[in-house]
Amino acid sequence: MLEASFISSKAPISVAVLGAGHRGRAYAEQMAASARFQVTAVAESDPERRSAFAEQHQIDRARVFESAEELLALPPVADLIVVALMDQLHVGAAVSALRSGYHVLLEKPMATTLEDCELIERTQRETGRTLMVCHVLRYHLVNQKVKELLDEGAIGQIVTIDHVEALDPVFFASMFVRGQWNNEQTSTFFLMAKCCHDIDLISWFAGEKCRRVSSFGSLSYFTRECEPPGATDRCTQGCLAEPSCPYSALKIHLSGAGSHNPSIQYPDSASDVDAHRVYNSSLGCGNSRKEILHALETGPYGRCVYRSDNDAVDRQVVSLEYDHGIVATFTVTAFNASINQRFTRIHGTGGVITCDYKGNWIEVRKFPKNTFERIELPAIQAGHGGADQLIIKALAGSFDPEGGDPLTSAARSLETHRIVFAAEEARKSGRVVALN
Ligand SMILES: NC(=O)c1ccc[n+]([C@@H]2O[C@H](COP(=O)([O-])OP(=O)(O)OC[C@H]3O[C@@H](n4cnc5c(N)ncnc54)[C@H](O)[C@@H]3O)[C@@H](O)[C@H]2O)c1
Repeated sequence: MLEASFISSKAPISVAVLGAGHRGRAYAEQMAASARFQVTAVAESDPERRSAFAEQHQIDRARVFESAEELLALPPVADLIVVALMDQLHVGAAVSALRSGYHVLLEKPMATTLEDCELIERTQRETGRTLMVCHVLRYHLVNQKVKELLDEGAIGQIVTIDHVEALDPVFFASMFVRGQWNNEQTSTFFLMAKCCHDIDLISWFAGEKCRRVSSFGSLSYFTRECEPPGATDRCTQGCLAEPSCPYSALKIHLSGAGSHNPSIQYPDSASDVDAHRVYNSSLGCGNSRKEILHALETGPYGRCVYRSDNDAVDRQVVSLEYDHGIVATFTVTAFNASINQRFTRIHGTGGVITCDYKGNWIEVRKFPKNTFERIELPAIQAGHGGADQLIIKALAGSFDPEGGDPLTSAARSLETHRIVFAAEEARKSGRVVALN
């Protein structure tokens, strides 16, 4: 078991990263830039990612592992573990790490079943280790400020919250039609995979317990019924619609490989700073035209978006009712006209708050005097509009003597994961689901 005194001293907290993919690398980069952390171990099953990560963080060869399981079978090799594996591997890694004595930074979703989320929370309580869930949106400057305004009563009592997540269709198709979150069997359902952040954010703003949820949504566009005439299983098979198809894998991955294709709307947000690089890094091949073409001819990213094995919904609405009558709506759509965006509008008994997470502004209108204030917040150059940096700062702060429970602790995150499971049950059953 690691000594608490070590953590409470100002010595750097040593970190082992499980999964050196997009998220593992993003957190490690923020940690490397902080004096409070030192990345000293990695477990990554892909040899190229593993060696690039080990080299970037100058990790001793003895602390470079081929799998999370191999690292976790040993006595602790660090103070803290970052679990940045795919969704279904979270529970095993988090529980094993906590039981070994590690503190844990756990990517969302906590796990893919409610029972496993509960197991993680229970294990965290029993071991007394710190566990922070990566609900990064809570740490974004705009959302922090909105929460502060709500808590100080700037718009009176909250009445309604409306929150929209609008995704770039090309981004959606890459991740949720062709990519590794396209099917519940291999990852988790769409609302959990993409929007557990949003339900968490709405619930944090509401500051009350959620009582009931209902939900509607479906996969209605990225289906066989919507395919254009002349479609083929893959974009590389002479599809007649390919030249005009916005989802052409040839355009997304090959046109000017390594540079942005101006004809495609790339998301500019978050972890997708250089979307083309991100899209192509998902292919798991080199950057030459030949290698990319081979990946499109044989791998998941070359499949026709109307003929994939996807079951992720491409639209969903969730209605939520909180204690004391606050009601909220959440809408997610795969069909934004441009980049990925999130919009929030909160009506209170004394005014209205609107905010733009991308534009870093908040507007507050108050009545009856009809005052108006626009608050501009600084842009931070890190993933998720700076939130990737702020969550690591908050993680460091949670080890200070006055640190307290993380804002996205296991217990708080379990509560909002419960709502996501209930919403999905409501969507599938067509019933209103009560939360006890
Ligand atoms: N907080 C956020 O905003 C946010 C954003 C995107 C993704 N995520 C979540 O982060 C997690 C990781 O997503 P990602 O985009 O980094 O995926 P990724 O595929 O880029 O990274 C996962 C890495 O784990 C490696 N891996 C798989 N099995 C392994 C094992 N047994 N041992 C060691 N390494 C193994 C893979 O080779 C891969 O490099 C997912 O759960 C995802 O839902 C969170």
